[in-house]
Amino acid sequence: MYSTEEQPIKLADTDYPIHKLLQKRWSPRAFSEKAIDSKLLNQLFEAARWAPSSYNEQPWRFIIARKEDQEAYEKLASVMNEFNQSWAMDAPVLVLALTKTTFDLDGRDNPHAEHDLGQAIAHLTFEATRHNLYVHQMAGILPQRARELYEISEDYKPMTMFAIGYKDDPESLNDKLKKQETSPRIRKDLDEIIYDGKWDQ
Ligand SMILES: Cc1cc2nc3c(=O)[nH]c(=O)nc-3n(C[C@H](O)[C@H](O)[C@H](O)COP(=O)(O)O)c2cc1C
Repeated sequence: MYSTEEQPIKLADTDYPIHKLLQKRWSPRAFSEKAIDSKLLNQLFEAARWAPSSYNEQPWRFIIARKEDQEAYEKLASVMNEFNQSWAMDAPVLVLALTKTTFDLDGRDNPHAEHDLGQAIAHLTFEATRHNLYVHQMAGILPQRARELYEISEDYKPMTMFAIGYKDDPESLNDKLKKQETSPRIRKDLDEIIYDGKWDQ
């Protein structure tokens, strides 16, 4: 029987020891509808706020919708593609993550805005893990739809969405997703991603 305790199978099977929050974080699709306390939600975005960024531009922006506000939630949910809608809509909070594509300073293009947004979301994700919350990021969204629905100007780019919530029993998922939800997490070996002093494809 699945327990609500962390499934050992999902803990990162690391070659070297890492912080337990990094080991514990993963991207579930079975979310409980349990609401997230507003202060706790702010705590997660506080963690994002303190991420480093190029020129300290902080080019991250977030549109959030809570399940309690059905109209706002369904509006934001409509920005996800059908696959992501099929599992993410149990989560109590949905977020659209945007970059500011130009520098506040002088209006030039900010070529590192996407890098900085990803880092801010990573901060948020680990703060979430600390509170037994999980974050599932999604590239499967309809950016143009977001632009139209929220009247987003060209200076901003809808990049990704993410669902935040407490985990639920994988039994709530269809067979294919259940299999993914309960299978071990895999990664490339370190020697496939590190090149010591030379580039060797
Ligand atoms: C930028 C980004 C986009 C992603 N897009 C999707 C998505 O559209 N749908 C989905 O189900 N998972 C998506 N994922 C989740 C990844 O598939 C997942 O992070 C990866 O398989 C590693 O699994 P783990 O997060 O459980 O370690 C995305 C993750 C990231 C970081």
